[in-house]
Amino acid sequence: MPTVFAGKNIVIGVTGSIAAFKVAGWVSTLAKEEANVSVILTESGSRFVTPLTFSALSGNKTYGSMFDDRDDPMVHITLGQNADIMLIAPATANTIARLANGIADDLLTTTALVTRAEILICPAMNSRMYSHQMTRENIAKLKAAGYQLIDPAHGMMACKDEGEGRLAEWEDVVEYMAKSLTPQDLSGKKVLVTAGPTREHLDPARFLSNRSSGKMGYAMASAAFRRGAEVTLVSGPSTLSSPAGVATVSVESAEDMYNAVIGRADSMDIIVKSAAVADYRPAETARHKVKKEQIEGQLLLSRNRDILFELGRKKGEGQILVGFAAESQHLHEAGKNKLLKKNLDLIAVNDISGNDTGFESGTNQVLLISAKKTKRLPHTSKEHTADLIWDEIVLQ
Ligand code: CTP
Repeated sequence: MPTVFAGKNIVIGVTGSIAAFKVAGWVSTLAKEEANVSVILTESGSRFVTPLTFSALSGNKTYGSMFDDRDDPMVHITLGQNADIMLIAPATANTIARLANGIADDLLTTTALVTRAEILICPAMNSRMYSHQMTRENIAKLKAAGYQLIDPAHGMMACKDEGEGRLAEWEDVVEYMAKSLTPQDLSGKKVLVTAGPTREHLDPARFLSNRSSGKMGYAMASAAFRRGAEVTLVSGPSTLSSPAGVATVSVESAEDMYNAVIGRADSMDIIVKSAAVADYRPAETARHKVKKEQIEGQLLLSRNRDILFELGRKKGEGQILVGFAAESQHLHEAGKNKLLKKNLDLIAVNDISGNDTGFESGTNQVLLISAKKTKRLPHTSKEHTADLIWDEIVLQ
């Protein structure tokens, strides 16, 4: 989880939806991250969760009416002006309608008009209410006014209806919140990241692959989103879920990845090839499962096309190309050779000689090499490594 929240003033508006109980957990998590969380609970919100719950979890007073704070009669001004970010979750159809029309008839809507911090809205309601024309129009108005809407999820709701309207998942919300507190040094940039292994099928049941989990590439994609880029992630098979705010394209084989990447490459400002692409595939893929009696002792292989080499060959003016390499020895020499051979601007060489670096590990140790310099990054989490690599990419 990103650690951008420490010391930040976060105002959370909780309105009258059954999903309000979920936000209690969010408040607790943010408070543990040392954020200063102030909850504004609307009258109907307090029917679902008590003010005491939020006060106990945030360590701060929970705000209700405009007029019940004797110490600060201008509480809407204080909260609004000091906020670094405002989150309204769950946001009911009624709250969305009031916000969209500039109505300020309670502490939450008044504070929303005072603040100049980014306002994130997580709608939660029955899918019929969510798809109603009035709600659609109100949401469109809020988006046009610069509010950040976080789309609800599809699924079974409390009323047992199935559809769109469930409160967004915390894993997504936290990424949008982190983005709003992160300097947007990739704003306006189109970024393509590849991640994960590829699978090269022998038959419908068997394949050749490698140990890549996709963690490093997914971390690169998430970090780019937080820094303001428009991100496409082309991913081989991975158990990780698609990162928030990122358009994920799932592929299986090296050939699929080649087509997905080359087809999109021309329009990209930056391409990061973190995927562990299989260098070889079985010379033949059987349409039906091969019986063991039919398998001879040897496997014939064909070479896959090198996607990164092709990208380097056709690299456009001003386009930045970043490669990865997994090495267990002679890191600098091997990295430098690949940088030149594939016409890269930067290469991140993973040291896979340790148990806690490279494949399947949560941490990494990377040597970053460009034409001009070499930098050894600290042994740290893949999330932190991703940010350190982006720090270097934005300087290219
Ligand atoms: N790569 C690619 N297409 C391939 C193979 C690799 O795009 N068919 C990319 C990877 O995404 C990575 C980089 O090339 O960014 C890795 O370079 P490579 O020379 O292929 O590394 P290894 O496979 O580790 O090579 P070797 O085993 O020869 O060291």
